[in-house]
Amino acid sequence: MARSSLLDRLPVTPPVLMRRLAVAAVVAQIGIAVTGSVVRVTGSGLGCPTWPQCNPGSIVPVAHPELLPLHQWVEFGNRLLAVVVVLVSGACLLAALGARPRRTRLVWLAAAMPLGVVAQAVIGGITVLVGLAWWSVMPHFLASIVLVWLAVELVAEARDGGPTTRVVPRHVRGLVITSTVVLGALLVAGTLVTSAGPHAGDAATPRLDIGVPTLAQLHADLLFAYLGMVVGLGFALWATKAPARLRRRYWWLVGVVLAQGALGGIQYGLGVPEALVSLHVLGAALVTAAAAAVWTATRAPVPADDRVTGDVPPESAPPPAAVDGTPGTDGAPVHASAGRPES
Ligand code: HEM
Repeated sequence: MARSSLLDRLPVTPPVLMRRLAVAAVVAQIGIAVTGSVVRVTGSGLGCPTWPQCNPGSIVPVAHPELLPLHQWVEFGNRLLAVVVVLVSGACLLAALGARPRRTRLVWLAAAMPLGVVAQAVIGGITVLVGLAWWSVMPHFLASIVLVWLAVELVAEARDGGPTTRVVPRHVRGLVITSTVVLGALLVAGTLVTSAGPHAGDAATPRLDIGVPTLAQLHADLLFAYLGMVVGLGFALWATKAPARLRRRYWWLVGVVLAQGALGGIQYGLGVPEALVSLHVLGAALVTAAAAAVWTATRAPVPADDRVTGDVPPESAPPPAAVDGTPGTDGAPVHASAGRPES
């Protein structure tokens, strides 16, 4: 049977279901990053020594003379959440394939969820094989962060439901892109601090042989660079009268970045206690999600009227450039109506 006719037999996905599944994907991806860190900082990786059963003969943890209940339940909880991630990811892809009209970008973003699960399973397997070596844990965490970002993009794509247009001038979009690159460097530097730090997941694990203070300094310096860009972005958003949705999201980003920076300083000062390390991982995922939400809000759906009349160019055409009606670097006037209230 032809592939297209098989896909056409899928039940049509209601838009609201697609949106809810996409939101569930964001929550699940953030959740698995955090529970993964709890497994690492509590050294619970072998809390369930068998797979898929936790203990031989039992799918759930049972009392075992050589295993601490905490380690068993932490590892079991992480496995449960992994199952949730698999189910939600698969459901996202099926729902995207059932969306009408079918949208290539929606399908690719949804497909990234199950593909990410497969990639993470491979990286996770390598991580175990090489004894939790730091250079294998780093990509494991960073892949989770990329999946959080893509899940937020999926939410935006599911919500916007069609062609979008840029609602900020080109230089503001450039600032958002540059700040995202700096955020990426900040996140990588964070994983380097962890690689050299005490929370390897196992006492015998080889560590990155660079001083923690040196790496923490680099990490904090990149935070200051990022903060500077975020402040600059704020001025740019107000100067160009960016849509309300984008400005609201900007304040969320400012809030989580400041909270995460403060938490980072406190955990460093207290000698990186386990609970704060996992909270810091949650913060890193939330900063990523907030930055992705700002990124997606620099575009907005083309108003339905304009789609019919062709007043606003589709996504592939050069977008408008300024939000105050003055010609921007693209030379096109702006459609202030392109921004729409948050749904
Ligand atoms: C927006 C600000 C920040 C972000 C997004 C961020 C992100 C991260 C990330 C992604 C990790 C690696 C987590 C892992 O691999 O499990 C990390 C680790 C770490 N961060 Fe930050 N961080 C921020 C601010 C700070 C600040 C200001 C400090 C203070 C110096 C700090 C101190 C640390 C320390 C000590 C670790 C290693 C924890 C461990 O041993 O596992 N962070 N951070």
